[in-house]
Formats: sequence, structure tokens, C-alpha cells
Amino acid sequence: MGKRYFSDKIVKWYLDNKRPLPWRDTTDPYLIWLSEVILQQTRVAQGLPYYQQFVKTFPSVQHLARASEQQVLRLWQGLGYYTRARNLHKCAQAVAETHKGKFPGTYNDLQTLPGVGQYTAAAIASFAFGEPVAVLDGNVFRILARIFGIDVPINTPLGKQTFGELANELLSKKDPALHNQAVMEFGATFCTPNNPQCEECPFKKSC
Ligand code: ADE
Repeated sequence: MGKRYFSDKIVKWYLDNKRPLPWRDTTDPYLIWLSEVILQQTRVAQGLPYYQQFVKTFPSVQHLARASEQQVLRLWQGLGYYTRARNLHKCAQAVAETHKGKFPGTYNDLQTLPGVGQYTAAAIASFAFGEPVAVLDGNVFRILARIFGIDVPINTPLGKQTFGELANELLSKKDPALHNQAVMEFGATFCTPNNPQCEECPFKKSC
């Protein structure tokens, strides 16, 4: 399958099927970062009310940085994985103090922040700054493994390299943000681990 073909198809699917989610109508790195940290290991339906409460309580990264850890943990209650909440607070303080309230503007620099790994850095860099870097998470591994018939295990260096290279070759350089959102949404709602909607799938002929 051609690279352009993959991106065009998945973007078309996305435009027809996407959920209206508040962090998609913004290029504010704070809002994008906040949503992606909440959505790690958490479904959109569960994470959305937390996102709304955080934005209301802490409208900017400076507000979040000035809060006490107690207050952050209280708002986080119920989401689990409390290291995420502690890192959320530490990251806000790092942005406020070390970066004068502005998130670093590149994939590489974003990874210097507490709790920001490759996935979150790629999401922020592409959604907020349009940097052409592919997001890679469990959803993306699954989609690529299925559509391109790759069976290299993802928990090996070779697997990570194989999927990473393919994801970046497929990435639309014209609109990396749209492409990445499309891939994430396709994996989250359509090409799901169980009961994927293969009959309706735009890739069913080549998958
Ligand atoms: N899960 C985590 N981030 C997501 C995104 N940007 N779109 C859909 N599902 C997600």
C-alpha cells in the first residue's frame, strides 16, 4: 500500500467519524499536554470530566504550578497511577520556572520535562507545533501490525525500530497533527483490540 494512500484514507475516515473532543480545537500545548497525560492508561469517556475539571481549576500552566501537590492529587482522585499526577505537577513547575511558562517547542526538548516520554512529546510537538513526528503507542502498534502484517514483537528493540520507522514513513508531512489525530482515533474507536469493525474498514482489501 502506498504511503500517501494510507494517510489520505485514515484522514478521510477521521473527518467522517471523529468525536468532538475539547483538546482537538486548540494548539495550546498546555491543554494538549494535560489531555494526553490524563488519557494515558485512561479512556476518553473516563478522562473527559477530569480534563474539564483541571482546565476549570487551573486555566494555565502557571495556575497548576502554583497549586499544592495535595490539591492536584485530590483532583486526580479516581484516575489511578498517581505517579502521573505527581509528574503532572512537577512538569507544570518545570515549565513555569525553567521555561518561563512556555512549553519547549520541539519533540526533543519536550522530552526533558518530567513525565513526558516519546509518545507525549510527539503528541504535543505535532498537535501544538506541527512538527512532523509520528505518535507511537499501543494503538499505533496494533493498527500497523494488522494493516501491514508485521509480526515483530513490539517489546524488542527491533520491534520498536521497525514500527517507529514505518510510522514516520507513513506520516503526512503536510499535516502531521491531522494524521496523528486520525491514527489515534482510528485505534481508539474502530480498529480496537477486541471486535474491530473490519466489515466497515477502509483498509479491508489490503489488511
Ligand atoms: N487517546 C489518547 N490521546 C488520544 C487522542 N489524541 N485521540 C484519541 N484518543 C486518544
